[in-house]
Order: sequence, then C-alpha cells, then structure tokens
Amino acid sequence: MSDDVLRVRGLTTRYFTAEGQINAVEDVSFDLAAGEVFGIVGESGSGKSVTGRSVIDLIESPPGRIVDGEVWYRSEDLASAFADSGDVAVDGEFVDLRTVPQGERDRLRGTAFSMVFQDPLTSFNPSLTVGEQIAEAVESQRRASANPRSTRSKTSDYGMLSFLTDAVDPRSGYVSEESRNRAVELLAQVDIPDPARRAEEYPHEFSGGMLQRAMVAQALAVEPDVLIADEPTTALDVTIQAQLLELLSDIQDETGMSILLITHNLGVIARLATRIGVMYAGEIVERGRREDILQRPANPYTQGLLNSIPRIDTDASDRRSLEPIEGNVPDLNDAKLGDECYFADRCPKREPQCVERKPEERSVPDEPGHRAQCILVGGDGPPGGPNRDRAAADGAETDAAQLEEQADD
Ligand SMILES: Nc1ncnc2c1ncn2[C@@H]1O[C@H](COP(=O)(O)OP(=O)(O)OP(=O)(O)O)[C@@H](O)[C@H]1O
Ligand code: SF4
Ligand SMILES: [Mg+2]
Repeated sequence: MSDDVLRVRGLTTRYFTAEGQINAVEDVSFDLAAGEVFGIVGESGSGKSVTGRSVIDLIESPPGRIVDGEVWYRSEDLASAFADSGDVAVDGEFVDLRTVPQGERDRLRGTAFSMVFQDPLTSFNPSLTVGEQIAEAVESQRRASANPRSTRSKTSDYGMLSFLTDAVDPRSGYVSEESRNRAVELLAQVDIPDPARRAEEYPHEFSGGMLQRAMVAQALAVEPDVLIADEPTTALDVTIQAQLLELLSDIQDETGMSILLITHNLGVIARLATRIGVMYAGEIVERGRREDILQRPANPYTQGLLNSIPRIDTDASDRRSLEPIEGNVPDLNDAKLGDECYFADRCPKREPQCVERKPEERSVPDEPGHRAQCILVGGDGPPGGPNRDRAAADGAETDAAQLEEQADD
C-alpha cells in the first residue's frame, strides 16, 4: 500500500485582476509520502507560495480563486465519516479536501496541516503576545485530539474531563497552563533566547529572524501531519538557518510529519528534501529524486538554476562563476502566455519546435520518477501526473552535501 499522505492533482489557481487573468499555478500535481520532504524550488514569481497556499485553501478571494484540481488527503477517519455523504469525494482512505465542507477544512488547517508563511508578520496577531498565540495553537491541537467527534486519531494526555471542562468554560479563548508551558518549550526548541520572557512579548518586539523562528514554533505546536514551510529560513543567518533545518529534520524523524518545503534556495532543498519539484511560470517543469535533480538535471531551466550557484570543487582556472539565467520569469497574464515552452525566451538550448506547442512532461530514461517538461528529454513514461518509484528513491545514495555548503545564502 502506498504511504502517501497527500496527493495533489491538477491544482490550478488564478488571479482575476484589472490587468487580466494571472495564471499563478497551472495544473500542478505531486505526491507527498508520510515522513517525506518534497521541496519546491524556483525563481521569484514562479508560483511556489501560491501552490502552498492552494493546498490548504488559503487563497484570498477575490482576486484569487482555485479554479481546478484535487487535494487528496489520507485520513481513514475522514474517509469513513464522509463515505456515504455523496458530496465529498472519497477514494479508499483518501478524501479530496476540496470537496470537504468548509468548517471541516478550516479545522484541519489548524490540526492536520499547518503552514510557515513567507512573511512572518502575516501569521501573528499584533495585539497578542507571541507566547499566547503559540499556546492557542497547542491548545487547539489538544482539544482536537481529545474531541470525541474529531476525525484526528492522535492520542493525548489531554483527557475527556479536560475537554469537557474546556468546552463549557465561559471564558472565550481559554488556554491552559500546560499549553502555555508547552509554548515556552517550543520557543526554546527553535532557539529563542530567554523563551519564558520572550513569550510575554508582542510580535513587533521580535526581530525578523526571531519572528520567523517563532512562526516555526507556532506551526509545530499543532503537531501537523503535513507542514507547509514557505521560505522558512530566509530571514536567518547561515548558522541559525542550519540549526532550524536540523530541528525540522529531527522533529520529522520523531513524529513522521511530512513537509512541503518551498524555497528559492537550492542549499536548503539539498539539505532537507528527498524529492524535488522545480517550478517555473506556475508549472512543475522537472521532478525527481534529489540526487537526480541536483546531479543530472534534465530541463535546461534546472540546469540554469544549478549553474547560478558558484562552484568550489573545480580548479580556479575552470571555476564557473555565478551564471544567473538571463532574462526574467514571464508575465503570467493569460493573454501573454502562448502555447509554447514558457522558458523558450531564455533557453540556451531552444529548438524551433519549442515554440510550436507546449512540451509535455516526459520520463528521463533509467531514472525512476525523474520527469521533465522539455522536448530534449527522451523516453515517454505513463501520461500525466507524478510518476515515481519510491523504493528506488528510498534506497538511493545521495551526494548533495557540496551543494548544501555552496548554496547557502
Ligand atoms: N494577490 C495577488 N494578486 C495578483 N497576483 C498575485 C497575487 N498573489 C500572487 N500573485 C501572482 O502569482 C504569481 C506567483 O506568485 P508566488 O507568490 O506564488 O511566487 P513565488 O514563487 O512564491 O515567488 P517568491 O520566491 O518571490 O516568493 C506571481 O505572478 C504573482 O504576481
Ligand atoms: S522545451 Fe525547448 S525551450 Fe523549453 S526548456 Fe526544453 S529546450 Fe528549452
Ligand atoms: Mg513565495
């Protein structure tokens, strides 16, 4: 049986603006297994954040709207709860979250899923202390776990009596002492100095880097099955960045949490991701095991991204300097996008047929699960959707350490 926890299919999100329709995310599909890190990497404006937000249904509408796609989440409890509903799409142990009633979706967002946002300020309420907000997240998780009607099956020491006591507590937003203590522990885990004192401070009293770490603490407080981490380390210096990545990795080992890691930084991807999806102009243009993507990139765009990292492993005479890909990500306005490879304007390997029609995603021969959207890639695999061989992915050797060192911001 597959160990996927999430299967995203054909996700398509658009913004309807005065300037026209922006195709921010176009037909994006990927799988995420339990305990896996799937890294999405790409230049600014390629649709990474919109993809992450679309997965958990956090698209501001208007002007945005998820216009198509399915987000299948594995939950035996949800699947049996909705099996006979008729309105909710259920497939074995999976439910399509996009068909689940809004209230249940909102609840899952604070319990089964959580997100580290690219902009830390957006995830904190300026008028509450940081500690209070993290404690609230802990509390909501504990209540969800103890709720007899909850579709989450995690066990918790928060018993039925506590649940019932909380449920009838007249004080709105009641947060137990235990949850407050846990919030301080979480702040300590993400290396916030003097966490008990800091917990009493407001978001504006935190530096950008500290707020980013506090946001990671808040996201971890709910003990999610799936963590969506959007640029979780950008505001941090290299040492703290490495510590935070290590922390995420440790927590993942302990809890089996899956991570959708979104970043422009190939070093962060190399350090944590087991598989990688490369995004360009709203699409995943290459996907595969980390070592395949980093060592044998098939799409010229991925090759360009890797070339834009200075290398230190060659003679000085042969050393490739930073070679940023010339040009910019295309305007994603629908009126300006043709039926062609969106990278064609910038691609050093462009052929005439690249602009005759959009290339399909094809399999890279002899590299299970490695697929790229480019005419230069040979060998057709099964059509559509992610195709990978997890057994091969699990057993493969990796040699990404050098990139990890080189690609740190
Ligand atoms: N609220 C919005 N209104 C209109 N367009 C938007 C909105 N939010 C995002 N977009 C557009 O969607 C596209 C993808 O944006 P997204 O934020 O996902 O990029 P990104 O890959 O996360 O970039 P970065 O690395 O800079 O964070 C961009 O063209 C962006 O302008
Ligand atoms: S399809 Fe053509 S233009 Fe696009 S990446 Fe491949 S070679 Fe370059
Ligand atoms: Mg972003």
